[in-house]
Amino acid sequence: MRELAVSSFGGDYRIVIAPGLTSTLGERLFEIFPGLSRVGIVSNPVVWGFHGEEILRTLSRSGIESLVALHPDGEPFKTMDSVLALLDRFIEARWERRDPLLVVGGGVTGDMGGLAAALLLRGVPLVHLPTSVVAQVDSAIGGKTGVDHPRGKNLIGVFNPPRAVLSDPEILRTLPLSQRRAGVGEILKYALIGDGALLNLLSERIEELVADAFSSELWEEVIGLSSADKAGIVSRDEKESGERMLLNFGHTFGHALEGALGFSGMLHGEAVALGMLSAARISESLGIAAPDTFEGIRRLVARAGLPVSWPGEITFDRIVPYLLRDKKARRGVVALVLPEEPGRVRIVRDYDPDILSRGVFS
Ligand code: GLY
Repeated sequence: MRELAVSSFGGDYRIVIAPGLTSTLGERLFEIFPGLSRVGIVSNPVVWGFHGEEILRTLSRSGIESLVALHPDGEPFKTMDSVLALLDRFIEARWERRDPLLVVGGGVTGDMGGLAAALLLRGVPLVHLPTSVVAQVDSAIGGKTGVDHPRGKNLIGVFNPPRAVLSDPEILRTLPLSQRRAGVGEILKYALIGDGALLNLLSERIEELVADAFSSELWEEVIGLSSADKAGIVSRDEKESGERMLLNFGHTFGHALEGALGFSGMLHGEAVALGMLSAARISESLGIAAPDTFEGIRRLVARAGLPVSWPGEITFDRIVPYLLRDKKARRGVVALVLPEEPGRVRIVRDYDPDILSRGVFS
């Protein structure tokens, strides 16, 4: 078991990473909310199909009543309408401000459940139980919530820090291998911007991480190191005025690619892996990264079984509108997060826009 602390404007909170934690969920919630009598659960039918029964059983064993609200699964349903439907359910049940919401799911569920918790009665306590790799290492930590707008991803939302993040690496065992593998894209991001420990571990054992057989000990270590990186960054820059922007390494081109594909056909972590390669290519062209940077990252991405070239149908022209909608754009100029060397990335705003087309490659 590992515990990490996160500093936040909403009060400091803990990330608990413990294999098997789900089976003692009631006790964990009592530690955070002594005297707890009911909890609202936000999830989606797919995740709930896997974990609902166990969660309801453990909560009822602890004498905690639960009210479950499910939203349809998938990025196309990450909308204000879905959040309003979740709110209806709790308002009809006469929810009270001290009753927490427990969000059980991946990134989409976490973002919507977090937003619902911020809006319901002007804010009820929020706990995340992330069930995807990306949610455990990234989206459940740091308080970002939101929904998509037809003009772009996550354009509506608030910062709503949770009271705790409860990560059970064992839950990842039930994921399809393709999703575990895609999550490694996001983990590679931490390895490439972090202090070297994670990069060394992945350099030695990345094949084991994406193997059919699930290694609980390895996943716990990798989730722990990645979460520690994220916890450190958001503790220093929660509202993304500086350092937190580094977490967008791979996301500028990655999000644009997802947008051009209509958010289907490629998993988020796969798009991030390609986006990191795009950033490396541009960085080399600008003389910021050494000439073998792209190749070094490409080898790791390939070893993880992730894509190493852009889908043929996606040309640079097709991603331009999505690049310009990036939330980090200032006066139409997109900030690029570019690798310098292993463990160091930097934000670059002053560049010749023609260089961007190098980010799309076959
Ligand atoms: N996923 C990037 C961030 O939390 O800032």
